Amino acid sequence: MTNTVIPPAGGAKSEADLDPFLDPWAEIERLRRKKNAVILAHYYQDGEIQDLADFVGDSLDLSRRAAATDAEVIVFCGVRFMAEVAKIVSPQKTVLLPDAEAGCSLEEACQPDAFRRFRDAHPGHLALTYINCSAQVKAYSDIIVTSSNVEDIISQLPADQPILFAPDRHLGGYLARKTGREMTLWPGTCIVHDQFSERQLVKLKVEHPDALVSAHPECHDGILRHADHVGSTRSILDFVVNDPSRKFIIATEPHIIHQMKKAAPGKTFIPAPGADGGCNCSNCPFMELNTIEKLYLAMVNMAPRVEIAEDLRLAALHPLQRMLEMSPPAGAVPAQAAE
Ligand code: 13P
Ligand code: SF4
Repeated sequence: MTNTVIPPAGGAKSEADLDPFLDPWAEIERLRRKKNAVILAHYYQDGEIQDLADFVGDSLDLSRRAAATDAEVIVFCGVRFMAEVAKIVSPQKTVLLPDAEAGCSLEEACQPDAFRRFRDAHPGHLALTYINCSAQVKAYSDIIVTSSNVEDIISQLPADQPILFAPDRHLGGYLARKTGREMTLWPGTCIVHDQFSERQLVKLKVEHPDALVSAHPECHDGILRHADHVGSTRSILDFVVNDPSRKFIIATEPHIIHQMKKAAPGKTFIPAPGADGGCNCSNCPFMELNTIEKLYLAMVNMAPRVEIAEDLRLAALHPLQRMLEMSPPAGAVPAQAAE
């Protein structure tokens, strides 16, 4: 896979060089102004990173923000494929990722050469690819989708158009069931959403019969079949804020509960349990690599920094532009009812 994240150069500052009395929040604020930087964060980032970000959102909202910003530097507090998207849509900006190793199990599960062979083996199919993939896989795709726009985009495709969907088989399976479309699925999964336990969820629902379940479509069907609402991270957040119920079980990465508590302080949010009944295993190990200290160091070192060869960038831009053109207007992401 092409390495698109340039690590800090030799001699760059590291965590070992940090003054123990440094106030990283104040320093990040100073550097944000000095370097004309915008900090974008995904809902799965640690609460303290979410709180200092200029914007927190789901994958689609963050892509739109990255395309629209007039800042010179985008500090992307999320994972590599998100920072790559920011560079693809805003090539003139410097895009920083606090930890160069912040990947994604879905991206890993879909290597570009294997994906190209998959495409070649299915002539006449349209490659609808989830945004959680590398720039190279995007370059081999026809249209990129996120969990907040995918149903809308599928509804715009001719009814007889055969579809390849990669890399998340749970999201693909959910879409095939919901839209009735025949889809050939790539067998990838998200390690976070794949580990939720149906048995533990049913126990939790019995203990809390007044709680509604709000789930991300990367969850397997054993979870989705118990969900009252299925949608992207922003859609899950909107649902719990707007629904009159007071208690919710949240079947996605639990750092999003930080925003839920801020937006609906009187309500109760219970993280969906993993197989061992606890919830630490539901934290995304890739998202967790980013810390306040690494965010500060990235702004000092101007690295790790995303760089994408222009031919690859242009090839990946095309399916991303089709996504942006076919997406519902910003702020109008439909709240999806569960099946
Ligand atoms: P969304 O924020 O688009 O729902 O995606 C979730 C996710 O898994 C990001 O890695
Ligand atoms: Fe990837 Fe899953 Fe982590 Fe999202 S939560 S970044 S899909 S591993």
